[in-house]
Amino acid sequence: MDIFQAIEQRRAVKHYQANTKMPEADYQALMSAVLLSPTSYNIQHWRFVRVTEVEQRENLKAAAWGQAQVSEAAELFVLCADVDAWNDRPERYVANSPKETQDMLLPMMYGFYNKKEQIQRDEAMRSCGIAAQTMMLAAKGLGYDSCPMVGFDREKVAELIQLPKGHVIAMMIAIGHAEKAAYPRAGQLPLSDVLVENHF
Ligand SMILES: Cc1cc2nc3c(=O)[nH]c(=O)nc-3n(C[C@H](O)[C@H](O)[C@H](O)COP(=O)(O)O)c2cc1C
Repeated sequence: MDIFQAIEQRRAVKHYQANTKMPEADYQALMSAVLLSPTSYNIQHWRFVRVTEVEQRENLKAAAWGQAQVSEAAELFVLCADVDAWNDRPERYVANSPKETQDMLLPMMYGFYNKKEQIQRDEAMRSCGIAAQTMMLAAKGLGYDSCPMVGFDREKVAELIQLPKGHVIAMMIAIGHAEKAAYPRAGQLPLSDVLVENHF
């Protein structure tokens, strides 16, 4: 599918054909694409929880105020991030770079994030947001629909997925085949409302 078709056809779908599974080849293609998403300093903060157990789906659905897509969709991911990833064996993020690039980037990364908690968290969330969009567009390209979600009790979900210390939850994403089409678009703001040139 052409990238512009995927962008236009991706919609937040709330009702899915239940009891369907994503074939392993599609799952692998999806996740391989997601892992190619860009991150600052190549930190790859994302940590994905793939929810495969029916009971865990039901518990998460209850924590998401009964949203049907949590249990109906073929796949459900909780997108989390390791906020401290910038300082966890950072040489992993430049493993294939030339030595002089490593020697330049590693201290630069340390200085950029060290003692800057707001920036550390912003960066982790940015990484997940970009991964989320890759996931939804790749899903569309593979013939699936999706729904991003933050409509859930974060503390309850953190407890259910046993979120480790230093991690945050960015969102959930449901992926599957639509049972009902998305509602008509609610109304996109015109470009003139959201774009300025050079400065505000
Ligand atoms: C971060 C985020 C969280 C969202 N949370 C929910 C949610 O909890 N439940 C839901 O039904 N839709 C949720 N949505 C879907 C939005 O309502 C939807 O993307 C928006 O209305 C635009 O519609 P479209 O995605 O079909 O173009 C969420 C979207 C985003 C990006």
